[in-house]
Amino acid sequence: MDLWLSWMDELADQDYVIIDKFFDGDTYEKVRAEFQAKLPHFSQARIGALAQKSLHTEIRGDQTYWLDRKRDTALQPFWEVVDESIYVLNRYCFLSLSGYEFHFANYPPGGHYDKHLDQFQGRNNRMISMIIYLNDDWQKGDGGELEIFVADGSSVIVEPIGGRCVMFKSAVVPHAVRKSFKDRYSLTGWLLYQPAELGKFLG
Ligand code: OGA
Ligand code: MN
Repeated sequence: MDLWLSWMDELADQDYVIIDKFFDGDTYEKVRAEFQAKLPHFSQARIGALAQKSLHTEIRGDQTYWLDRKRDTALQPFWEVVDESIYVLNRYCFLSLSGYEFHFANYPPGGHYDKHLDQFQGRNNRMISMIIYLNDDWQKGDGGELEIFVADGSSVIVEPIGGRCVMFKSAVVPHAVRKSFKDRYSLTGWLLYQPAELGKFLG
């Protein structure tokens, strides 16, 4: 709980927090194995919500696989981490989170995501963005860094190292994914103000 408190302080102060080794080793291995198992079923990610969604690989190059807690029971230890995260955020950051949506994402070589916010026109219930990287042997030069644009005009570069988690406030933190030169794996999602049966329509 002490760790959670310091992470929540950081999130409150600077709008984002970077946490290394977020999962225990067993959870990480389970998530990694499930990612690998689902890779044949990924599809090209889309932009926007519902009716506006569209395919723009020049803006966003990742392929995704939306998760479902009832179906994806192999991820049980991960879902428990999500429950814990929601509990802590509600308690210490005074949020009213009541739902979530997560997908696996792979940026194939050449893939990137232009600067954006995680809230869309007509849909503003994404409160906290949460990304856990699954790249066991990421090295400098592999690309795919997350760039977080901070208020003073500078940016923070986050290397997508396996086990690292980034959380940020979805509405206020512009960010981008730099071009990746290798397959770049992550588990990415959003903690929501209201449960939304929307995940499957987004991408
Ligand atoms: C996203 C996103 C960042 C990352 O999927 O909206 O910004 O580092 N991902 O994968
Ligand atoms: Mn984003």
